[in-house]
Amino acid sequence: MEKLITEDGSETLRNPDYDEFYHSKSGAVEEAFEKYVRPCRIREMAKKGHLRVLDIGFGLGYNAIAAIDEAMNSNKSCEIEIFSLEKDKTVLEELRSLKPKLQHYGILNGLEYDPANNAYSYEDKNIFLKIKIGNAVDTIKTLSQRFDAVFLDPFSPSKNPELWAVEFLSDVADRMNPGAILATYSYAKKIRQNLEKAGLEVGDGPVVGRRSPSTVAVRK
Ligand SMILES: C[S@@+](CC[C@H](N)C(=O)[O-])C[C@H]1O[C@@H](n2cnc3c(N)ncnc32)[C@H](O)[C@@H]1O
Repeated sequence: MEKLITEDGSETLRNPDYDEFYHSKSGAVEEAFEKYVRPCRIREMAKKGHLRVLDIGFGLGYNAIAAIDEAMNSNKSCEIEIFSLEKDKTVLEELRSLKPKLQHYGILNGLEYDPANNAYSYEDKNIFLKIKIGNAVDTIKTLSQRFDAVFLDPFSPSKNPELWAVEFLSDVADRMNPGAILATYSYAKKIRQNLEKAGLEVGDGPVVGRRSPSTVAVRK
């Protein structure tokens, strides 16, 4: 895949099937922290000792690993569980050539594959990461857990419509704990309406790398 150095110095890749990059050109690692990890208040939740994150579109793993870095830097003894949904297992090979400045990125070299569940996982005393391979539209229905934070990071709505549809977002909202925050880069009116139809309360996220804000949506 074509590699691009983004404006914060971190690399991203271009997916040839979608003809889109995995991250914003203004900064891939910056995007992970500023559009996902911080709006979802990972640092604050880690202080309480336990948090569970739903990561939609694992991609190159920046959002998931940035969340682990933030949680561990906030409270070394907290437990963080991340459930990532990803349909393309070839990205797990592609990301091996990347060296983002993320303290825990190396754990992706230690993933174990479970063929019975078509899932990759990493587990130590405090960190549990599971990457379930398959269409997230189907996988979401199999999850019985409730989440404290959601990273919604598909490709653009025009190229990846199923993950921005009310049906899928309703399945996501049903699995959020009261007070849980969903963060996404899109600020499109239609996407915000879909989040509202799914039962979430929508607001502006931070402005990062461009003039418009991103979006946060809270489960009441
Ligand atoms: C913008 S990238 C995500 C970047 C990622 N969050 C990161 O931090 O590197 C979108 C990801 O969603 C995945 N994806 C797209 N449609 C999907 C679907 N229906 N089910 C599961 N994953 C999907 C793509 O394969 C791609 O890896």
